[in-house]
Amino acid sequence: MAYLQPDKPEKVYVPALRAAKEKGEKLVCLTAYDYPTARIVDEAGVEIILVGDSMGNVIHGYGNTIPVTLEEILSAVKAVKRGSSRALLVADMPYGSYHTGENTAVRNALVLMKDGGAEAVKLEGGRNRVDLVKRLVDEEIPVMAHIGLTPQSVHKLGGYSVQGKTSDAAQRLIEDAKMLEEAGAFAVVLELVPREIAEIVTKELKISTIGIGAGANCDVQVLVLHDLVGLSFGRLPRFVRQYADIREVMTEAVQSWMEDVKNGSYPSEKESYGMPKDVDAKSIKRQAS
Ligand code: KIV
Repeated sequence: MAYLQPDKPEKVYVPALRAAKEKGEKLVCLTAYDYPTARIVDEAGVEIILVGDSMGNVIHGYGNTIPVTLEEILSAVKAVKRGSSRALLVADMPYGSYHTGENTAVRNALVLMKDGGAEAVKLEGGRNRVDLVKRLVDEEIPVMAHIGLTPQSVHKLGGYSVQGKTSDAAQRLIEDAKMLEEAGAFAVVLELVPREIAEIVTKELKISTIGIGAGANCDVQVLVLHDLVGLSFGRLPRFVRQYADIREVMTEAVQSWMEDVKNGSYPSEKESYGMPKDVDAKSIKRQAS
C-alpha cells in the first residue's frame, strides 16, 4: 500500500540514537497507546514510539498524568508491542511507580520490559533521579530521562509553564542533563525549555536530546500523536503543529452513518445477508406467524 514504507529500514535499538547524533541525522518520536496507532506510527517510519503517561490526558480524560497506573501503561505497551516491529519501544514509568524505593522502581520497570515488551523506560526528574538511573542501567534497563517541564510535578510546579528561564534555572537544567548522561541515561527529553538552553544541552551531551517545546536544535523531536493529528480536546500548546483534523473526519463519518441509518439507506442489501436461494424464505415467514 502506498502509505507503507517500501524499503522499511532495520529495527531501531538504543545505540541507533547515538549513531544518528554522531552523523547529525534527526530522528522522530511519537506517542502511541494502542494497536492501530502503533501500526500507523511504526509503518510510517517513526524511529521511537513512546507509550507516554500523556495517555492520562489524551485517552483517559484524567486532566493530568498523576492518576495513570502501571497497569494502564502495561496494557498499552502490550498493544503497542503487537502493533509495532521497527521502532524503539519506550514505556513511561507512571507517577508513583518509581518514587518509593529503588527496588520497587526496578521491579516495575522489569514488568514493563518482561511482560509488556518495552525496550526502554522513561522517567521524570534531574539530579534527584541520578542514583535510580544508575541502578536501572546496572540492571540492564535502558533509561530515557525527562527534564524541564515534568508533568508529574504539576502540583509542585503549579501548572505547565516554560522551565529554565532564569540563568540559575538554566544552569541547573544543563547540570541535570549532564548528571543524567553520567548516570547512564541514553537520551534526555527536554520539555518546554527555551530553545537556546536546549541547544546548549544538545551540544554539551553525547547522548541524544529529545525536544518537545524546546526548539529545532534537539537531536530528536517528540510530539503527542493525538495533538499532531487533531484528535485531542482543549487548547493546543504553541509548540504543536497540527497536521490533520481527524476529530472532524471522525465526527463527519459518525454523522453520515447516523443520517443513513435514520433515512433507511443503511444497511443496504449489499451490506446484509440473504437466505440461500434453495431455502424458501416465504415458508419460514408463514411458519413464524
Ligand atoms: O507522556 C508523554 O507523552 C511524554 C512526552 C510528551 C515526552 O512524556
